[in-house]
Amino acid sequence: MHSHFDPERKKILVTGGAGFLGSHLCGQLLAQGHAVLCLDNYFTGSKENIRPLLDHPLFEAIRHDIVHPIDLEVHQIYNLACPASPVHYQFDPVRTVQANVLGVTHMLELARRTKARILQASTSEVYGDPKVHPQPESYWGNVNPIGLRSCYDEGKRVAETLMMDYHRQYQVDIRIIRIFNTYGPRMALNDGRVVSNFILQALQGKEITVYGDGSQTRSFCYVDDLIEGMIRMMETPGLTGPVNLGNPGEFTVLELAEKIIALTGSRSKIVYRPLPQDDPTQRRPDITLAKQALSWEPTIRLEAGLKRTIDYFEQSLLGQKEMTVRSAARPVRAKQNGNGDSIPLPKTATPPRSASRLPNGAVRRAS
Ligand SMILES: NC(=O)c1ccc[n+]([C@@H]2O[C@H](COP(=O)([O-])OP(=O)(O)OC[C@H]3O[C@@H](n4cnc5c(N)ncnc54)[C@H](O)[C@@H]3O)[C@@H](O)[C@H]2O)c1
Repeated sequence: MHSHFDPERKKILVTGGAGFLGSHLCGQLLAQGHAVLCLDNYFTGSKENIRPLLDHPLFEAIRHDIVHPIDLEVHQIYNLACPASPVHYQFDPVRTVQANVLGVTHMLELARRTKARILQASTSEVYGDPKVHPQPESYWGNVNPIGLRSCYDEGKRVAETLMMDYHRQYQVDIRIIRIFNTYGPRMALNDGRVVSNFILQALQGKEITVYGDGSQTRSFCYVDDLIEGMIRMMETPGLTGPVNLGNPGEFTVLELAEKIIALTGSRSKIVYRPLPQDDPTQRRPDITLAKQALSWEPTIRLEAGLKRTIDYFEQSLLGQKEMTVRSAARPVRAKQNGNGDSIPLPKTATPPRSASRLPNGAVRRAS
């Protein structure tokens, strides 16, 4: 029998590997010749995202929730498992905190036992509604500990604390990156984030909802740039971080809406709605450290990234439409899911992601 054993090859665990960023990371690590173990509970991720990888001999997918311990043999761990958009992380806030406290502890215990290097996907949300602009890593943030977003913001902050304490107390080899808004193909269509909301609304000819007066700013990093930075961080010796990764180009939300309308050729009109609670007014990374320590900076311009993302959304919407037409035209029958269980075929199309578990139409906006 053909064996893929190679003592030189790294075995890399990617938690949240079936999600937006995770699936791109898995693909890139496989392309670099590593063996990849993708772990996911498929809450917001989907098998669709990793389908092109499933036949790869060095790729393996495990269904598991990191709030429970797991024992594996790995050389590196990228910990991405956590719902990332407000509509998803507020769906079950207690679970979100648990993913960041219990889940991160389990991954750190795994790293401690196997002596694996572990990278934590932290977030710009640890800066909260920042009083310092742009945000360097030395800024401690301005976070509401009891607000609706705190399950995520404070969860990610305590995850950083756990990483640092395992490092200081048990010498675990850690890496922390703080990811700023990242977008690209395989973002969940219904994740309520500003890029996906606007693209969806523009493509469907619906009103484009801008919250507040649209003068709040955001920075948008294309996924390929982010993955490159993430891998560089993992491979850079002696650097624990945190290191900001994001695109320092700053745009108002209104500018983003206008760009998307222009790129899609949509006739959608912009409408204004009240700002949600704890919505940051400015968000832009200071990436001086990433430039110095990782020789990294984003290279993909917003228009180019948006075009690729719009193409993906168009294809996904088309796929959903075809599914609706096909399933309406045939009787409901059972089909096999990936685990061999029999599951009923939906009467109408559902989005490819398990986000369809969310309350109906619960697309709220987010940063
Ligand atoms: N995309 C961004 O702009 C951004 C910004 C800052 C931080 N991040 C962080 O990067 C990581 C990935 O984000 P994403 O945008 O790809 O989101 P995503 O929702 O597409 O991916 C998260 C993945 O983790 C899985 N997951 C969630 N909880 C889990 C659990 N308890 N056990 C196992 N799997 C679980 C989900 O099913 C999904 O596949 C997250 O940790 C997020 O906080 C992302």
